[in-house]
Amino acid sequence: MNKTLPNALVTILACAMAIGCTQPKKNSAEATAREVFVDSLMESMTLDEMIGQLNLIDGGALNTGNSRKGVISKDIAEGKVGGFLSVMGQENIREAQRIAVEESRLGIPLLFGLDVIHGYRTIFPIPLALAATWDTAAVREAAAIAAKEATADGLNWTFSPMVDIARDARWGRVAESAGEDPLVASAMARAFVEGYQGDLCGDDKMLACAKHFGLYGASEAGKDYNPVDMSRIRMFNEYLPPYEAAVRAGVGSVMSSFNTVDYVPAVGNKWLMSNVLRDMWDFSGFVVTDYGSIGEMSKWGIEGMEKSAVQCLEAGNDMDMCSKAFVRHLSQAVEEGTVSASRVRTACRRILEAKYDLGLFADPHKHCKAERLLTDIYTAEHRATARRIAAESMVLLKNDGNLLPLRKGGRIAVIGPMADNGKNMLGCWTHCADTANTHFTSLVEAIRKATDGQAQVFYAKGSNVYLDAKKEANACAFATGMRDGRSPEQMIAEAFNIAKKADIVIMAIGETREMTGESASRTDLELPDAQMDLLRKIVETGKPIVAVYSTGRPVVMEWERTHIPAILNIWFGGSEAAEAVADVLFGDAEPTGRLTVTFPRATGQVPLYYAHLNTGRPLAPGKWFSKYVNNYIDVEEGPAYPFGFGLSYTTFEYSKMVVEREKIKMGDSLRVSVDVSNTGERTGHEVVQLYVHDVYASIARPVKELKAYRRIELKPGETKTVRLSVSADDLGYYMGDGTKRVEPGDFEVFVGGNSRDVLTSHFTLTD
Ligand code: NOJ
Repeated sequence: MNKTLPNALVTILACAMAIGCTQPKKNSAEATAREVFVDSLMESMTLDEMIGQLNLIDGGALNTGNSRKGVISKDIAEGKVGGFLSVMGQENIREAQRIAVEESRLGIPLLFGLDVIHGYRTIFPIPLALAATWDTAAVREAAAIAAKEATADGLNWTFSPMVDIARDARWGRVAESAGEDPLVASAMARAFVEGYQGDLCGDDKMLACAKHFGLYGASEAGKDYNPVDMSRIRMFNEYLPPYEAAVRAGVGSVMSSFNTVDYVPAVGNKWLMSNVLRDMWDFSGFVVTDYGSIGEMSKWGIEGMEKSAVQCLEAGNDMDMCSKAFVRHLSQAVEEGTVSASRVRTACRRILEAKYDLGLFADPHKHCKAERLLTDIYTAEHRATARRIAAESMVLLKNDGNLLPLRKGGRIAVIGPMADNGKNMLGCWTHCADTANTHFTSLVEAIRKATDGQAQVFYAKGSNVYLDAKKEANACAFATGMRDGRSPEQMIAEAFNIAKKADIVIMAIGETREMTGESASRTDLELPDAQMDLLRKIVETGKPIVAVYSTGRPVVMEWERTHIPAILNIWFGGSEAAEAVADVLFGDAEPTGRLTVTFPRATGQVPLYYAHLNTGRPLAPGKWFSKYVNNYIDVEEGPAYPFGFGLSYTTFEYSKMVVEREKIKMGDSLRVSVDVSNTGERTGHEVVQLYVHDVYASIARPVKELKAYRRIELKPGETKTVRLSVSADDLGYYMGDGTKRVEPGDFEVFVGGNSRDVLTSHFTLTD
């Protein structure tokens, strides 16, 4: 129990705890207990103490004990800090929390947040790969394990999930998203929130944060921090649903974004945070800004830190991440009447409520139990789960002549700059992985282990990532030591020679982890030049080649897919990635991933996504190019690999698509069944997808929209009748004011294993 709380509060808290779980349930005794507790606490708070709660600071200095440590400790003791980001390690967190509860006047505990994006010590595949599983149970499990490990080390808040719709493959942060589709992204948003938060009661649960609100995924030209300009119709139908899904799933916090919306930086955009988030969606948690974004308002041309602080608070942010704008300016602003004290109180209340819900008032050190460090982090069980999910997330893009799976024998050449670098396979946002003390198995090591002496395994690096040293430096900051001092010719010659000796060549190529994530936009999505030169040369050997491709976004693989028989897209699979790739290569696991992003044929096609509008001049089916229609002169229309695509080690056939009733009424549901058969020789998983197209409507509607899907398992020769349904309400669309319209009329409905290869039928929605 917090020793420094005023006695009355201790009594109130004791009552609240006696009720049991402190998670808020509206209209329940628990919610009332929370209200009574927070009311009483706030009565004893000064305005400055309330403003202190709104201050989130970077506590990196507490990890290293540098000279800023003293200043930060003083700020905590003076009640000027509501929480930290980036303090790491139970000991550091315990000490900061101790100062808050023992040395500050009211002893209010702190929040400790971190970007736990796809795992803490046990690293799971990047979020884009997790989404490719289409398996929300797996995503929930991964998030729950991340929360268990992070809370065992003292953290209580993660800046995840990122729920931005991402349709521009140039944007590095596609890797952190669930991809291009609102239905999939909403499902993933819910799974992440449920996994991290559960009911928030347990010691192993943490607060989630849906980000970046809003529309950050539509940054112009796929460039980080860029403006966004978009119609409200597009916002409500395509970009906002995943944030709403996170809110409806009970996410405790939301992060405002760096981009502009309607020419106003999102962090200062009242329409977004007040009208949409609070009024339309009834969000009751707190909003935190992104890092330093209030301070960046002036760069957008909005004058003065004081004004920005007021604007951003009034817009709806409750907590200021690292601008120190609230803590420096709000007190005076209240005095001068430019902001109301009641708005400060509301923000403070929301943060205290989150702390209450986390159970921090009852036990501020609940996440700092020493024994959990030994039992809950990077366990064999967690790692086995990560390995299983990593395998599940891989997408088999091509497999001519069933080259995969490979047999564990013969002579195998493993070539490429990604072949002997386990750290690179972690992916972006993994600063919580213990890279200093942990050896992460590389692909070549995993292949040796898997074949266990039955095969001869040769390795050559073959090339650097890029030929140009500057590009290479940008692409390899973390995976230090990657650049090889030998000439490209020497490296290729060595690789060529081992390839010639081999029966099969595995090419480990693609992006490095630094080429994805924040501040990693690319203008060219093709395989970097040094690797392309290598690949072309190895193809000359005439050996069968499997490309094991690391990507954090859709990339362009035109040359590869016309010259290489097998391509396995492995994304960045996390700490157990290499073993998982070996599992898939040798058939001990099945690649079950399906793309949640469209892979283009050329970079110039982006943004490319399946749910586009038809235009008045669509290209006729079967044509390569036509003059005066909606196409490019220099590239075949459409994607290289469509949304939803992914092969399996078996084959599936779709037949007998039946629309239960061809006329459905408002309030009713569309019900479709289809027979799916496993026509191959192995058990396999298929993701059965249902799309609709509203043929005529008051506004233009996408050519296809995913409305339902089911992931099924089929044994060889087995057929299952899969039933999918869509409520009439889900056939509607939003207008620019956020109201929903469900219009009667004709629809097409499609069922298949991806968004392109489908069976088609139709139905009518009647009044
Ligand atoms: C900036 C990023 O945009 C955001 O996603 C992240 O959570 C914060 N920095 C904190 O690290």
